[in-house]
Amino acid sequence: MANPTYPMTRQCPMSPPAQYAELRARGPAKVDLPDGGWAWLLTSYDDVRQAMNDPRFSSDDDKMGRARTELPPGENLNSFWRMDEPEHGRQRHMMMSEFTAHRIKEWRPRIQKLVDELLDRLETLPRPLDLYAEFALALPTQVIAQLLGVPQQDYRTFAEQSRTILSLDKPEESWAAYYEMNAYLDHLIEDRTRHPQDDLISRLITDRVQTGELPPEDLLPMVRFILVSGYETTTSQIALSALTLMTNPEVRDRLIEDPGRITAFVEESLRFWSVSQDNVLRVVDEDMTFSGAAMRVGELVILAVPAANHDAAAFPDPGRFDLERGENRHVAFGFGTHLCAGASLARREVEIAVTSLLARLPGIRLACDINDLTFRQKSLVYGLERLPVTW
Ligand code: HEM
Repeated sequence: MANPTYPMTRQCPMSPPAQYAELRARGPAKVDLPDGGWAWLLTSYDDVRQAMNDPRFSSDDDKMGRARTELPPGENLNSFWRMDEPEHGRQRHMMMSEFTAHRIKEWRPRIQKLVDELLDRLETLPRPLDLYAEFALALPTQVIAQLLGVPQQDYRTFAEQSRTILSLDKPEESWAAYYEMNAYLDHLIEDRTRHPQDDLISRLITDRVQTGELPPEDLLPMVRFILVSGYETTTSQIALSALTLMTNPEVRDRLIEDPGRITAFVEESLRFWSVSQDNVLRVVDEDMTFSGAAMRVGELVILAVPAANHDAAAFPDPGRFDLERGENRHVAFGFGTHLCAGASLARREVEIAVTSLLARLPGIRLACDINDLTFRQKSLVYGLERLPVTW
């Protein structure tokens, strides 16, 4: 029997691809890839969570095969995300000191201020308006720009470049955007080397590069990776959370009645939408039997986060957006060694965005038929193209 082909598309925009349910019953499955190769696809919660934290699976770009990803030689595209120990831990630690729960708590008032300013502006715009561009996209891009020290006037360019880099259907445009971003960041790093400021890029230069801890050639990839990974995911999560509020009156009323449910809402939204859809990959690093499958060194493994987060064995009635799930051990941020470095920041942004949106615009509603919304399928990050709203 022929292998199923990957990536699979969502038939219903509100649920992961239906094939995941069939494949889950079979355990690890071989799937054919667009480049002619094949990979293992893990779809059960237990398999995905275990593989995320099992050192027999490597995250190393080199081991995954540079030819497969058409990566130009010498390019460090994904920074420490696609490295193994000990270098991964060493570089991750340099970034994590900026992203501890404590540091992020300090960011709370700044995020609130940005949200308030964006909502002030929304109220002056003609309606219907696009909540995706004017709010969901604007917030994370401005947060990440402030955090890194990217000048405010340039953040829209970054947003467009990041989105093009992450798209799966326009490889030539993707690479062009990638080189443009590199040229800009190169310039910015040069500037911060000469004139350090109170931002992440300057601190990485003075505390890590100039002390010899971080090789200078690894700085730009780290900054670029934070920039690209830090906004598209959070943007999608905010837009889709807003969509849930507008299409699920039960959930929205419950949240208005008890604003203390916001943490449960954010966690359930992360699980339900699982925006990291096609980018959690590993490569087998030692011959083994994993969950009944004989895996060999060098074979590619795709960890399907949306499938894991919709596994009924871990989340009863997974298609239901449920604010009463209790402990929500979803893997939307990954798990273990490579657990999302920006999880605390993303959680705060979504929480503040949703709480403020509900408080300021309680009558907000979709300004189109739900069937007219366009969802981005061919992208590493699932999400909406636009979100027309009115109130
Ligand atoms: C809702 C928003 C987000 C989602 C759903 C998300 C999802 C993920 C996932 C699934 C991983 C693990 C990948 C793997 O195991 O290979 C990851 C890693 C990572 N994320 Fe996020 N992310 C989000 C926001 C952010 C933000 C705001 C930042 C930075 C400001 C960020 C930076 C990173 C970094 C640096 C890694 C690599 C960690 C490592 O390899 O040690 N992410 N993210």
